Amino acid sequence: MLTGKVQRRPRGDLIRVLVVDDEADIRELLDLTVARMGLSADCAATVTEARQFLEQQRYQLCLTDMRLPDGDGLEIVRLIAERYGETPVAVITAFGNTQNAVAALKAGAFDYLAKPVALDQLRSLIKSALDLPRVGAAADGAPPASAATRLIGPSAAICQVREMIDKLARSQAPIYISGESGTGKELAARLIHDHSARRTAPFIPVNCGAIPENLMESEFFGYRKGAFTGAESDREGFFQAAQGGTLFLDEVADLPLPMQVKLLRAIQEKRVRKVGNTAEEAVDVRIISATHHRLKDCVEAGTFRQDLYYRVNVIELRMPPLRERSEDIEPLVEALLRRLCGAQPPRLDRQAANALQAYSFPGNVRELENILERATALCNGDTVVLDDLQLAPAMAVRDSLGREGESLDDYINRVEKQAILEALAKTAFNRTAAARLLGVSFRSLRYRIERLGIEE
Ligand SMILES: Nc1ncnc2c1ncn2[C@@H]1O[C@H](COP(=O)(O)OP(=O)(O)OP(=O)(O)O)[C@@H](O)[C@H]1O
Ligand SMILES: [Mg+2]
Repeated sequence: MLTGKVQRRPRGDLIRVLVVDDEADIRELLDLTVARMGLSADCAATVTEARQFLEQQRYQLCLTDMRLPDGDGLEIVRLIAERYGETPVAVITAFGNTQNAVAALKAGAFDYLAKPVALDQLRSLIKSALDLPRVGAAADGAPPASAATRLIGPSAAICQVREMIDKLARSQAPIYISGESGTGKELAARLIHDHSARRTAPFIPVNCGAIPENLMESEFFGYRKGAFTGAESDREGFFQAAQGGTLFLDEVADLPLPMQVKLLRAIQEKRVRKVGNTAEEAVDVRIISATHHRLKDCVEAGTFRQDLYYRVNVIELRMPPLRERSEDIEPLVEALLRRLCGAQPPRLDRQAANALQAYSFPGNVRELENILERATALCNGDTVVLDDLQLAPAMAVRDSLGREGESLDDYINRVEKQAILEALAKTAFNRTAAARLLGVSFRSLRYRIERLGIEE
């Protein structure tokens, strides 16, 4: 039964796992573990045999070795991702071979295990794979998205982010969420967790920039009673608190270098050691990190370790700035006003709505929230007018200088458009007043408005 022979075993409607490894004793170990969990395994010794099994049968999980006599595990990962998207696949890598693990996760593997295979890790991997919500089954596995936790926005960019979130929820790969401040990085991290097999375990957000350096190790990994003065009892760290769930490392670029080394170790080994303890304990935690810095720049500047960068940045999710998706502003305003004021929120008059459309939101959705909160406090009755918004004279252009790949002409047009939109917003869309403010003639302004395709 443990030879690599391709022979389908008749077994009712058991949950089936495909095991692919060329070493007979590893196949046996995996087969036994799977059987003890009440599942059944088919075992293949080569890529070819694995292909044959996959053609005959649907599997709820595939565990594959990386190095196989007739190919490598990545081929199987890719094949499954292309043809059998329903089946999560995990790879088993040689001890310390991080590149392999990262390559597999990027190719769509759900998770990986390092050799020698630790049985507790294997069992928790199998459990989470079987707990995965099914593809496209938002209604049945996933929790109902409450109004407060939805990612709002009809723009193509946000639709794409929502699709990515669904996809990422079905993997255990470490994710790095990039984006300017206030773009919804933490919200995205929560949604990934809430839609994943880990949703019933904790989501632990940690602001890496807010922890004093001398407390970091004990905050992350916990400590034993008596480890240092004041350690009066054992305490868990963030890793233990997030056991089975997700650890969200916000502002990860703010971690000091010595802590980066320890974090890398914890992620790689899936084990941590409490301060004052000699033994390590296994942890099963998914890492999602974020920062509003460009992490790559931090690596170049030497403030962020390259090896940790590759580890946390297996898959990047980019949150687009609000100024690149102005069609999201109106639906966001509506939803945020309802969140702030309940069932009968105030309305924005046309000028106020236009001004928001024209505004550049350097602080993104968070700034929009703040603007609306202030406006609802300031407004008279049920209508928010331009004045209530108290829009800051914007400096939007400054912080987006030199966007990648932008030509000089595009840049100049963007600056010009921004300046005109702001002048229009400030003057309640009175072109004569706006022209005066900009120091150009009315005719010149009208020409520029047309040329730049600015709509009121
Ligand atoms: N698309 C969206 N739909 C609904 N709410 C959103 C959306 N994007 C952001 N928000 C809300 O905006 C606020 C800021 O989002 P969040 O804290 O996730 O941003 P962030 O990128 O982590 O910001 P920072 O860099 O400042 O930490 C939150 O209240 C969040 O719920
Ligand atoms: Mg945040």
